[in-house]
Amino acid sequence: MALLEAKGIHKRFGQQVVLEKVNITFEENQLSGIVGPNGAGKTTLFNILTGQHWPDRGKVFFNGKNITRFSRQRVARMGIARSFQIMNLFDDFTAIENIMVALPNVRQRQFNMFMNVPTDSAIQDEAYEVLRRIGLDKVARTEAKNLPYGKRRALEIGVALASKPRMLFLDEPTQGMGSDQMSNLIDLVLKLKEIVTIVVIEHDMDFLVEIADVISVILWGQIIATDAPDKLLANRGVLQ
Ligand SMILES: Nc1ncnc2c1ncn2[C@@H]1O[C@H](COP(=O)(O)OP(=O)(O)OP(=O)(O)O)[C@@H](O)[C@H]1O
Ligand SMILES: [Mg+2]
Repeated sequence: MALLEAKGIHKRFGQQVVLEKVNITFEENQLSGIVGPNGAGKTTLFNILTGQHWPDRGKVFFNGKNITRFSRQRVARMGIARSFQIMNLFDDFTAIENIMVALPNVRQRQFNMFMNVPTDSAIQDEAYEVLRRIGLDKVARTEAKNLPYGKRRALEIGVALASKPRMLFLDEPTQGMGSDQMSNLIDLVLKLKEIVTIVVIEHDMDFLVEIADVISVILWGQIIATDAPDKLLANRGVLQ
């Protein structure tokens, strides 16, 4: 059984059909890529799979359970985390504070994040562990706004990881990155692949080929191919 499965997803915004009959499955412990041009419907698909939007038709199953009309909070509690295409950090908070406020133990306390970041050591240890995973433990006390761009993007992934998800969705993690930052990100994602099932949206086919076990191509709201990276690259029609 696939860890996550979407069946017959349709979504429209007003007159515009954005997703049409989308069927897609994600296997546990695999890294799946989704590639496609601007406006193809990639982010919309993520929004539906993670409960930000509900589909007009179709169903989403996680671990066999129908989660189609769950709220995004409920989807998150089931073990699905995501990063956003547009950065989503608290700029005036340090790296470790950004992680701490995303830890489930802290969230449950419903603390006021504009007033009191927790200081207890168990929470800090837990946050350090996440920072180590993403290679940011050395900059734990640096404010997010003062981190270089590549590290900010890694921190966003850390925020998503803080909930110890079973599945992680990354929306264009390479956006705005140079080649050095990109190779660091490839290393990071390959490491994370050992501990969590990952789905990555990307424009950058070269990046996806480095990291993905399987890639789906989405065009005008439809999945037109799903295959191993080397097989996809051999398919001239898809490449075009
Ligand atoms: N909330 C919304 N309301 C109305 N239209 C929307 C909404 N979200 C997305 N769209 C439209 O749906 C289409 C698909 O958008 P989507 O963001 O899913 O594309 P994408 O594949 O992620 O593109 P990109 O590569 O530029 O990020 C676009 O035409 C977009 O304008
Ligand atoms: Mg998008």
